[in-house]
Amino acid sequence: MDTHQQLNANSLDAYWMPFTSNRSFKTAPQIVTGAQGMYYSMSDGHKLLDGIAGLWCVNAGHGHPKIVEAIQKQAAQLDFASSFGFGHPLAFEYANRLTSIAPQGLDHVFFTNSGSEATDTALKLALAYHHARGQGQRQRIIGRQRGYHGVGFGGLSAAGMGPHKKQFGMLLPGAAHMPHTHDPVRNAFSPGQPAHGAEIADALDQMLQTFDPSTVAAVIVEPVAGSTGVLIPPVGYLERLRQICTQNGILLIFDEVVTGFGRLGRPFAADRFDVTPDLIAIAKGMTNGAVPMGGVIASNAVHEALMQNAASGAVEFSHGYTYSGHPLASAAALATLDVYVSEGMFEHAASIEPFWQERAHALKRVAGVADIRNLGLLAGIELGEDVAGGKAMAKKVYDYCFERGVLVRPVANTIVLSPPLVISETEIDMLFSTIAMSLRSL
Ligand SMILES: Cc1ncc(COP(=O)(O)O)c(C=O)c1O
Repeated sequence: MDTHQQLNANSLDAYWMPFTSNRSFKTAPQIVTGAQGMYYSMSDGHKLLDGIAGLWCVNAGHGHPKIVEAIQKQAAQLDFASSFGFGHPLAFEYANRLTSIAPQGLDHVFFTNSGSEATDTALKLALAYHHARGQGQRQRIIGRQRGYHGVGFGGLSAAGMGPHKKQFGMLLPGAAHMPHTHDPVRNAFSPGQPAHGAEIADALDQMLQTFDPSTVAAVIVEPVAGSTGVLIPPVGYLERLRQICTQNGILLIFDEVVTGFGRLGRPFAADRFDVTPDLIAIAKGMTNGAVPMGGVIASNAVHEALMQNAASGAVEFSHGYTYSGHPLASAAALATLDVYVSEGMFEHAASIEPFWQERAHALKRVAGVADIRNLGLLAGIELGEDVAGGKAMAKKVYDYCFERGVLVRPVANTIVLSPPLVISETEIDMLFSTIAMSLRSL
C-alpha cells in the first residue's frame, strides 16, 4: 500500500488535530512522511524547504544522526524511570550541562514535557517562592497583550491573545496584561531592534500603582513575541521591565520557548539582550523537537527560598510530571546540546543574521508589505490589510510557497519565518525569493 492508500484505509476522521481547522485539513490533507536536514518529504513525493524549523523547534535541522543515535541507544538502555523520589543519571547530567550555558546565577532546572507545562511551572514556582518567603499575598500575574505562553490554564491566563481564550471562561483570577510593544507608526521596517518604545514598559509601573506591588508575584513575557507574528522588543524596553520588577520584589519570567537554544544567535535571549530574568521557560529547541521536553531554569534565589523554607524531609515544590526528566528526552537533549556546541550552530546563526536581515528587508520593495521585523533567525513579514487583503493574503502566500516547495507560517496577516539555524545563504535566498514571487503574483 502506498501512503495515500494507507491514509484512506485508516481514514482521517479519528485523529482530532490540535490548533487545526480539522474540516478544512481533512478535505485537502498535507501529509509529511519524512525529514532530513532543511527539508521535509511529503506523501506525494515533493520536498519542502522548512522555513519554520518544524514549529520553531528543529534548530539543528531534521534527523541529525547524533540525536537519532542517542535516542535509539537510550531506548534500549533505560526506557523509563520515575523522577518522583527516584533518579537516573542522564537527567542530572543534562541539568548540569544546561545550567553551564544558562545565564549566570540561574543554576537549577525543573523538567517538564512541553512549553505549556514550562510556563505553568514557572508561574507556580513564582507563587511558591513568595509563599516560602511569607509573602503568599503576592498572587497576581502580569503578562502582556499579544503574548503566547501555551495552552495550560496558567499560561493561557497570562497570555494576551483573545481568540485563544474565548472558549474557556474566566481562567485564572487576577491575571493582568501590559500593552504590547508593536508600534508600526514609529518602528515599521526597523532592521533588528526598533529604536522607539522603551517607555512602553512604564505601563507596568502604572499597573503596580493600581494593584499595589505587594500583590504581584510575577511578570511573564516572551523576550521576542513569536506566535503573534514576531514582535521585537524596542531598545531599552526589557532593561526597564527588569528594573521595575527588581524595585518591586516581583519575579521576571522570560518565556524562551521560542528564543532559547540559539534562535537569536546566543544560547538565550537573556544573553542577546543582556537582561537576566529570575526564571526562564524553555522547550522546543531543547531536544531539537525530537522528543517532547520542556523546563524552567531557576535563579539560585528562587531555588534557595524553596529549599530553606521547607520542613526537613518535606517535598519542597509539590509539582512535577510523570515524564519530567524522561530518559529519552534527557538523552535527546544532551545530544542536541552537544550538536549545537560542537557544530557551532549558535555562532552560525549569528554570522548569517546580517544576510538574513538584508534579504528579509529587500521585500520592502514588494507591494502589499506593511512591515518587516527581524532578529536572529526570526522574521515577521506583515501584509497590509487594505493593500493586499491581509489575513487572506498570508494564507495565499503559504499555499503558493507550499506548491513551490517552501514552508512558511501564516499567522493572521503576517508570514512568520524561523528556519533551522543551519540554513545556508542559498536556502535563505530561496525562502525570500519564493515569498517575493508569491506576493508579486497574487
Ligand atoms: C513562547 C511560547 N511559549 C509556550 C509555548 C507552548 O509550547 P508547547 O506547544 O510545547 O506547549 C509556545 C509554543 O509555540 C511558545 O511559542
